[in-house]
Amino acid sequence: MYMDNSATSPINPEVLDAMLPYLKEEYGNASTLYTLGIHAKRAINNARIQVAKLINAQDDEITFTSGGTESDNMAIKSTALAQLKTDNPKKHIITTQIEHPAVLNTCKYLEEFGFDITYLPVNEEGLISLDELENAIRDDTILISVMHSNNEIGTIQPVKQIGEIAHKHGIVFHCDAVQSVGKVPVDVEAQNIDILSLSGHKINGPKGIGAIYIKKGVKLDPYIHGGGQENSKRSGTENVAAIVGLGKAAQIAQENLDDAIKHNQQIRDAIIEKTTARIKDTYVNGSLDERLPNNVHLRFSGVEGESLILKLAQKGIYAATGSACSTHNLQGSHVLAALGITPALSHGSLRLSIGPENSIDDVDYIVDAIDETVGYLRSISPLWDNKTDEYIGDRFERPMDEEDEHCYLE
Ligand SMILES: Cc1ncc(COP(=O)(O)O)c(C=O)c1O
Repeated sequence: MYMDNSATSPINPEVLDAMLPYLKEEYGNASTLYTLGIHAKRAINNARIQVAKLINAQDDEITFTSGGTESDNMAIKSTALAQLKTDNPKKHIITTQIEHPAVLNTCKYLEEFGFDITYLPVNEEGLISLDELENAIRDDTILISVMHSNNEIGTIQPVKQIGEIAHKHGIVFHCDAVQSVGKVPVDVEAQNIDILSLSGHKINGPKGIGAIYIKKGVKLDPYIHGGGQENSKRSGTENVAAIVGLGKAAQIAQENLDDAIKHNQQIRDAIIEKTTARIKDTYVNGSLDERLPNNVHLRFSGVEGESLILKLAQKGIYAATGSACSTHNLQGSHVLAALGITPALSHGSLRLSIGPENSIDDVDYIVDAIDETVGYLRSISPLWDNKTDEYIGDRFERPMDEEDEHCYLE
């Protein structure tokens, strides 16, 4: 049972079928003038239309990239670099504390060039405050970069209102929608988005391919310089097969969106209801209402996340911990820390991300497996008192301090 679709998702067989000709007989370089090249170019343009449709954009507003990470880097660095060419560069960017590292580390890097970044906090539900966002805007603010939904806890930000605020102040709004595209309606027009990042492998497409939407009129310098492919916005010989795969995955995601939402939501809600009812001291991380339909993020006091994941894998369930790299350090996830959850508690977190191959019929098996595993791990946990059947980890907690490194979850 693969329940780690937010980390990556299996390729849809129809996507693979669409790609294969471009790895075999249709191997032309899209920049060449003979038939093979023309076929490749056509295939790329068709994919561009398919991706544009999924987010209600125009096809010439879509540029293919190597994935969500590159799109995020391009959105932020190209906006920032353009300022450095001016006599009086503006150097303030607003983002949030819970962004994916593709955004956070790009912003951190820009600090080395004198950019000033505001990292907005979130409330205990994982949502930013629109008032705090507006108050953070300054005369020299050039970009607001807020994710559509969070990759760990699945909370969906008030994107439309964020865009409204950005535009009221004449600021460009970049939205990392890698986890939202194909999971919830994403509409760049209706949601006031100027630049958007998306990725193929989160929507049952191939890895190493993504796209950036740049609204007409928004000027973004090229990020990768070279032979002028992708309308000179992103040079490099196009990965035709992957682009075709992304296009097909986008088309399927668009056609199936309503059904996918119902399917995912039904499984999500059943798992949340049954685990929280059955297993003591079980909590849902992040907002229940503003949440991706395919995201279950649970916290079990007194349990160590990595052991939980390994035990579940032995039972045939592939999931993610709430804190990805706890073997390397003892700190919890930066997202859960931003929600005010202490390191020991955040380590007991589990993310199940649902995909089309999961079934409502699997829910009882999953809940039984979690129940059994949590029970076992608590029975051997120093943070759980077996006599009183209570969490006693509070005694060992210490607050997170600024020096602590956080770990990241894809
Ligand atoms: C919110 C978010 N942004 C960006 C990325 C990076 O995307 P990619 O893996 O395509 O580089 C991810 C991937 O986990 C993500 O979840």
